Amino acid sequence: MTPHLLIRGGTPLTGEVWIDGMKNAALPILFALLLVREEVTLEGLPPVTDIETTLQILCKMGARLERISPTAIRIHTKNTDPDAVPLKWTTELRASSYLLGASLGRFGRAATGIPGGCDFGTRPLDQHFRLLETLGATVEQEHGILRATAPGGLHGKNVRLDFPSVGATVNGILAATLANGMTVIENAAREPHIVDLADFLNACGAEIVGAGTSSIRIRGVSKLHGTRYRIVPDMIEAGTYLCAVSATGGKMRLCGVCPEHLGAILPPLRKMGATITVSENHLTLERSGSLYGTVLETAPYPGFPTDMQPQFAPLLCMARGGGRIYERVWKKRFQYTKELEKMGANILLSNDFADFRGGDRLVGTQIHATDLRGGAAMLIAGLCAEGTTELCDVRHLERGYPNFVAKLTALGADISYVQN
Ligand code: UD1
Repeated sequence: MTPHLLIRGGTPLTGEVWIDGMKNAALPILFALLLVREEVTLEGLPPVTDIETTLQILCKMGARLERISPTAIRIHTKNTDPDAVPLKWTTELRASSYLLGASLGRFGRAATGIPGGCDFGTRPLDQHFRLLETLGATVEQEHGILRATAPGGLHGKNVRLDFPSVGATVNGILAATLANGMTVIENAAREPHIVDLADFLNACGAEIVGAGTSSIRIRGVSKLHGTRYRIVPDMIEAGTYLCAVSATGGKMRLCGVCPEHLGAILPPLRKMGATITVSENHLTLERSGSLYGTVLETAPYPGFPTDMQPQFAPLLCMARGGGRIYERVWKKRFQYTKELEKMGANILLSNDFADFRGGDRLVGTQIHATDLRGGAAMLIAGLCAEGTTELCDVRHLERGYPNFVAKLTALGADISYVQN
């Protein structure tokens, strides 16, 4: 029996929400644990299924795990075995590609199933492979398994990425941390999760400078030591709640956030009619007047994040004058718009943009979460819709949004799980 969500829309959201640690920072840090042969304490792990799957993969490989709380662990990876990777589980996660860099760096060899995760059409790994091969690895794909070896060890080199890929940058940092000599990654991704990975590894004794800029320099070290580390707050979870309250109307205080990571998310919300005040680690958003249209264009950080565009779509559907979203990172990331159309939205898709007519009345019906952020868009649409929305395939949301039913209920949403 698969649980669905029943959402009775139309209630303005009001109250306070605490933001959890960032999934997309926690995942690379969990795989980076393979490089550290001493005990590490991690805090701020978001309680979501992608994190649970990754912990299970590490445990199957031999990691010793102690749970301190739902968001904190102590973990020791000294006795891990690269040949014990549970390949079936790796196919559930995009981030399992990080096993390549981490396992090569620790053991000189790596294996993983073809990484899964959200389906945005083709999700190539060529930049990852080229980077690892430049450092001295051989990567092969056979019978649905990716294998990498570096019998002669990994050696620091200069590499320039064709696109500032988050995943390739993570794999480069993981592979270079214990490599011989200096690696320089040019045109690197600049996302806060890259900075968090580098901060974690540096806290363990790595020598990484430039994370957060386009040029990252990694001087290989011979070993790392244990540490205690707290994962950075999730800017996408924060942005999703900001969109939800902008869409339903209401007033929310968002706590435990890094406002500097929201630099591309707050301006369009203000333009659409929200009033936002920012303090050191919290912010408040209020929207009581009309919703206005805008144009969004996704880009690598510090640009407007591709992981936020679906959540803006319900707002653009309802806004006066509508708007347009250009998708420059994942051109096929508009599969969720079909579900919005079932609710009465008027959307016209072109090759890499979507036009929203605006002024639409969203009406509750049965819809599906097509992927993680598309699922968040459906949740927001359901919260604004007239009548009841039945949201299926909720597992996509559970991969990345901690306790979202409880958090939304605390804001006054009428939302509950049902089995059928
Ligand atoms: C990560 C995030 C994902 C987010 C994306 C962009 C995780 C687990 N996933 O995905 O949520 O949507 O960043 O912020 O952290 N590309 C290539 N070749 C490659 C790699 C990427 O051409 O080898 C292209 C992709 O087709 C895409 C773009 O680069 O157009 C961005 O991909 P990338 O930044 O690598 O995304 P992921 O790391 O897969």
